[in-house]
Amino acid sequence: MKIYDFDQVIDRKNTFSFKWDNVSYGEREVLPMPVADMDFPVADEILAVLSKVTDHKILGYSIVPESLQVAAQKKIFSDYGWDTKLEWQVWIPGIVPGITAACAAFSTPSDGILTAVPVYHPFHLVAGWLNHPLHTFPMVEVAGRWTFDFKAFEAALQKGPKVFLFCNPHNPGGTVFTAEEITEIKLLCKKYDCLIISDEIHADLKINPVVNHTCIQSEITFFATSKAYNTAGLGGAVAIIPDAATRMAFQKKTLGFFPMLSRHSIEVMLATYTMSTDWLNALLPYLRSNHAILLNRMNQLPGITMLPLEATYLAWIGFDAKMHGDFQKRLFDNGLHVLRGDQFLGGDFIRLNFACPQISLLKAIDIIEKVVHASD
Ligand SMILES: Cc1ncc(COP(=O)(O)O)c(C=O)c1O
Repeated sequence: MKIYDFDQVIDRKNTFSFKWDNVSYGEREVLPMPVADMDFPVADEILAVLSKVTDHKILGYSIVPESLQVAAQKKIFSDYGWDTKLEWQVWIPGIVPGITAACAAFSTPSDGILTAVPVYHPFHLVAGWLNHPLHTFPMVEVAGRWTFDFKAFEAALQKGPKVFLFCNPHNPGGTVFTAEEITEIKLLCKKYDCLIISDEIHADLKINPVVNHTCIQSEITFFATSKAYNTAGLGGAVAIIPDAATRMAFQKKTLGFFPMLSRHSIEVMLATYTMSTDWLNALLPYLRSNHAILLNRMNQLPGITMLPLEATYLAWIGFDAKMHGDFQKRLFDNGLHVLRGDQFLGGDFIRLNFACPQISLLKAIDIIEKVVHASD
C-alpha cells in the first residue's frame, strides 16, 4: 500500500487560493485556517485523470456518463443501504447552488426556510439571497456533543417554514446525527409538512471512527466527494430526488443558472467514486491525530472550550468574551486567520480548519495559547 505524506508542506501562496491569497493579508504572514479545503495533495488517481484530460488537449462541453451515475448509486447503497434509481440523480456544479435552487423551488416569500444554528453560512444566507423569511432554532450541547433542541425545533416548525435545511455531518458542530435523531427529524418535518433538504458533503470525514453516518434519505439529499478527496475547487455534486415532480421543480430552478459540469470535474468525481479507499484510509488517522492534539490543547486553556468532533475537520471552539474580547480579531492580529462564530450565527466561537500538516497546526495552537495567556 502506498504511503502518503500528509506532513509535507506545500506552498499554496500565489496560486489564486481563496484560503492562502486572501487580500486582507496584504504583505503579512498569516496562517490561514478559515475556508474548508485541505492543505494536502490529492490522491495520485486524481492527478492521473487530470493529466489524461490535459493530454487530450480538448476542453469542450461534457456529459455525465452512466459510469459516474452507477458509481454514485453504488456508494450510496453500500455506505447507507439506500437503494436509489439512476433517474433520481441530478448532477450539479456544487451543493451551495443546489441548496439555493431547492429553496427557490420549495420555499416562498411568505413561509420561509428553517435551519438549526450555528450553521454553515449559506444555509442562513440563502434566505436573504431569495428574500424569504429565515427561521432558526439553536443547537444545544448534550452529553458532550452538539445536537438539536427538539422542542425548539418543533416550535420553529409551527411557524410554517416549507423547507428545512439539514446539515449532516454538521458544520460547524461536527455532529453525526444518530439514527434515532434522524427518525425524530423526519417525523417532525412530516407532521408540519416541511420538506427536508439534506447536505451530506462531510459524511466520509469521520473523526470518531465508531460513529456511523445515517443518511436521512429525504426529499432532496445532496452528496459530494469534493470535501473528503480535497477537490472542492473543481466542483461537482449530486442531488438524489426520488419524486419526479419534486425533481422537475428543482431542475426548473437550475435552468439558465447552472453551468454544465466540466470534464475535469466529471473525471475526478468518477475517480473518487471508483478508486481504492487507501488515500482516505490514510487521511482519516492523520485528521484524527490533529483533532486529538487540538482538542487536548484547547481544553487546557482558561476560557476556551472545544467539544470532540464526530466528523469534519472544522473545529468549533468557544471562548469567554469577557476574558478574551474579540478573540478572532486578536488571533488575526497575531497571524492566525480563523472564522468568526457570528458568520455561522454562532456567537462567541471561532471555527478552525485543522486539515493541514501537523507543523502548521502546532503553530496555530501556539498563537492561540499566546493570545489566551496575554489576557490572563
Ligand atoms: C456543509 C457544506 N456544504 C457545502 C459546502 C460547499 O459545497 P460546494 O462547494 O459543493 O458548493 C461546504 C463547504 O465547506 C460545506 O461545509
